[in-house]
Parts: sequence; structure tokens; C-alpha cells
Amino acid sequence: MQNVLLIGAGTMGMEHATSYYQMEDVHVVGIVDIRTEQAKKIIGDCDTKIFPSLEEAVNGLERIDVIDICVPTFLHMEYVMKAADYGIDVICEKPLAYTLQDAREMIDYCNDKNVKLYVGHVVRFFPQYSEAKQLVTNGAIGDIGVVRTRRGGNFPPGWNNWYADHEKSGGVILDLIIHDFDFLRWTFGEVERVYAKGLAEKNMDHLDYAIVTLVFKSGVIAHVEGSWAHERFSTQYEFAGKNGIIEYDSLKEEPVLLSLKQSNETKAGVAIPQSPLKNSPYFIELEHFLTCLKTNETPTVTAEDAYKALEISVAALQSLKTGVPVYLNQEGEN
Ligand SMILES: NC(=O)c1ccc[n+]([C@@H]2O[C@H](COP(=O)([O-])OP(=O)(O)OC[C@H]3O[C@@H](n4cnc5c(N)ncnc54)[C@H](O)[C@@H]3O)[C@@H](O)[C@H]2O)c1
Repeated sequence: MQNVLLIGAGTMGMEHATSYYQMEDVHVVGIVDIRTEQAKKIIGDCDTKIFPSLEEAVNGLERIDVIDICVPTFLHMEYVMKAADYGIDVICEKPLAYTLQDAREMIDYCNDKNVKLYVGHVVRFFPQYSEAKQLVTNGAIGDIGVVRTRRGGNFPPGWNNWYADHEKSGGVILDLIIHDFDFLRWTFGEVERVYAKGLAEKNMDHLDYAIVTLVFKSGVIAHVEGSWAHERFSTQYEFAGKNGIIEYDSLKEEPVLLSLKQSNETKAGVAIPQSPLKNSPYFIELEHFLTCLKTNETPTVTAEDAYKALEISVAALQSLKTGVPVYLNQEGEN
């Protein structure tokens, strides 16, 4: 049995708890939230204790194997460091931190304390995304030229309106399309150049939008769009290769479509039907992390991957501010 202590009972706390409650051999022993009423909504009649602070949870619980952090981003560091001080392994929601300095400190601190740190870059666990990576890697559509991704929906409501404060959430670039940055880096390798346009500097009330161009070392160019200006949440991608295109649109009934160029032998428009998911990507991700904790395997996404995704977000924010491209992973950099 693995005992999980959850920190934060908001949207993601609820999502994680729902996954854990469905797992065998996993016990959510406690939930910490400054709003204990909110935590009550999650536990229902489950055997989970509620605590107003981490210290009280650690004192009040017999054994905690992992602390899962689902508080707003600007609070991640505080809880990761405390968990490491207690010598307890950590799962932390993305983005790992608000700044690269904090992220580096968190990773180094956990390493020093011999504590594992896993970061919830969940897009790697969405079959429609991992399948696209697989197709690209297997050369199904040949050399890739241009990629487009889009992710967006309504402005997220959060505790105390924290998403509206760019100094706390980082807006769509740091909070939302970091998902795509991580996925694209996983698929195409290191990024060389980042250029961004968007609304972050305009401080618009409950509205954010950005378009970011990534140039990868491999030569692939990706246009990544993020929006908190729409009503309905959706995600899309399009990979254009020499021999075909892979497209996905979460709004469509048949969301993943592989279209290959016609030749004498093949017909165009080979569709890949998606089977309904038995478990949510969050369930798959968290189960994977818990297995890695038990077996000592390296997870599909590491804390260093989370750092690199954050590096792209930070570069995009800098580009947006300065109006010029930002270069990453340069030879001879220190
Ligand atoms: N992986 C994903 O798909 C995904 C999706 C949404 C959000 N996130 C990330 O998850 C994290 C949480 O986001 P959310 O939307 O669930 O936030 P939220 O605002 O819905 O919930 C945050 C919770 O933290 C509690 N809280 C605030 N301060 C606290 C403190 N000091 N100690 C303990 N509890 C405290 C609040 O009471 C609230 O219940 C963020 O980092 C966000 O970027 C990830």
C-alpha cells in the first residue's frame, strides 16, 4: 500500500484524488488545504483525514510515502522544500516553479536530500499525443517541416483569482502552453530559438493569448498558440511532414487523423480511430509515477524535463517583453 498526502484541494487536487481513489493499493491518507471545507468536498465518505497544514499532517499521520502538490504554482517551492526536509518523495503539478532559479534550487535540494521529484507534465500521457510522437519518430510522415499546436479555453477560475495575477501564474505562456513546449521538446529535441507575441504585457482583465514560434536544433519549426479567451476548452495539433500530415482536434468526433500522400498503392486519408479511454491521462500519469517510486525506474518525464520546459516558457516571456528572439542551448553557453 502506498500512502499519499495531497496538498491543495482545488481543481487539480480533485482530479488527482479521483485518480488515486480508483487505484488499488493506494491510500490517500490526508489532504492539506487552508480551506478545510474545500477538502471535505473531495473526500466524500473516503477514509482520508483533512489538515490545515503540512506540519499537522506529518505529525498526525503514521506513514506518508509521497506528497502530491496541487497548490497554485507560486506555492510549489515552499511545499517541495518542506517535503524534502521530511525526506518524503514528491509529485508536483506543472509548472515546477515560477522561475528557473527556484526550479533549479528545488531539483538540487531534492537530489541532496535523496528525495524523488516528479512533475505532472500530463500531455505525455495523453494517447493522442504519445501516438503522434510515436508516428513521427517511426517516420510515418517523413521529415517534419512545420508543426502547429493550439490549446485554449476560458479563463481559469482559481482560488483567490490567482490565475489572473501574472506574477503568480505566468499567464498562458507559463501555465498553459508549457504543456505543448514539453511535448514538442520530447518529440523534436532541444529548442534553439524562441519568439513570442501575446497579451501578457497588456495586463488585460481575465484575458490572455500568445503565439510562440519555436525553432528546434533539428530545423523543425513549431507555432504554439495558447488562449484564455475562448469559452470551450480544446486542443489541436498538426504535424506536416514530407510524406503526410498528422492532425488532431479534440473538438472533432474522430480526433486523430493520419493523411498520407497518395501513391499508386495507397489511398489518402487513413484515419486512426481512437478507442474511448478506460483511465484518464491523470490516472495513467500518477500510476506511472507511483510505480517508478516503487521500482526506482526513471519516469517518462523527469524533473530536468520540467526544468527545460520552464526554460522555454521563460524565454518566450522574455521574447514577448523585449520583442526579439531568445536563443537557447547555444554551444559554449555556461
Ligand atoms: N496538469 C494539468 O493539466 C493542470 C491543469 C490545471 C492546473 N494545473 C496546475 O495545478 C496547480 C493547481 O492549480 P488548480 O487549478 O488546481 O488551483 P486551484 O486554485 O483550483 O486550487 C488551489 C488550492 O490550493 C489551496 N491553497 C491555497 N494556498 C494554500 C496553502 N498555502 N496551503 C495549502 N493549500 C493552499 C486553495 O485553497 C485551493 O483549494 C497549478 O500549479 C496549476 O498550474 C495543472
